[in-house]
Amino acid sequence: MKRILVGVFSETGNTMKIGEAIREEAKDLGSSVDLESVDSTDPAKLSDYDVAFIGSACHSSNVAQPVLDLLAKLPEKAGLRLAGFVTHSTWGPSDNAHRQSIHERWAGLCQATFEKACADKGIDFLGYFSCMGIPNPQIEAFIRDTIITDDADWIEYLKEVRQHPNDQDLRNVRAFARQAIGKL
Ligand SMILES: Cc1cc2nc3c(=O)[nH]c(=O)nc-3n(C[C@H](O)[C@H](O)[C@H](O)COP(=O)(O)O)c2cc1C
Repeated sequence: MKRILVGVFSETGNTMKIGEAIREEAKDLGSSVDLESVDSTDPAKLSDYDVAFIGSACHSSNVAQPVLDLLAKLPEKAGLRLAGFVTHSTWGPSDNAHRQSIHERWAGLCQATFEKACADKGIDFLGYFSCMGIPNPQIEAFIRDTIITDDADWIEYLKEVRQHPNDQDLRNVRAFARQAIGKL
């Protein structure tokens, strides 16, 4: 039986929903799963698991501080495997150049942070998943004032972001988890 850790930093529940979907998929595949807050994730215990899925809300264009702290403490150990996931309130990757540039500026660093942390420590990185998540009112106001200032764009954006994470996101992350666990 495969042992899976899902460690999540989530303040308003979006990233936790994604973590819970990973847990459900892993259980359906017959794995044993521990789901916990990253605050209680002990880097020394990661080697007890076949893979650790580490999730974060996107804060200030990158993974949040508790996840940065955990990544900095990852042991240098051959055989460790990690996958990353993030929810962010700005647009996801897009064919639309304007939305894509917003994504890169405001959420693009997250994947690179996971990849670099794993590369630095010789950890096998099994992949990255991200999707939008509904912002809290303060972040919504910040995005309106600073990032999406055009009225028509704003209406379209708000309609979209308020739905996430949605059922499609949950199906997508379950497929991501299935694929990552299939690599073990
Ligand atoms: C302090 C703070 C900073 C944030 N910075 C960003 C950001 O730079 N880019 C972004 O796309 N979303 C940003 N967000 C929005 C969150 O990433 C988003 O709402 C996420 O889904 C929240 O996840 P949670 O419900 O798991 O906490 C920020 C949220 C907070 C509270």
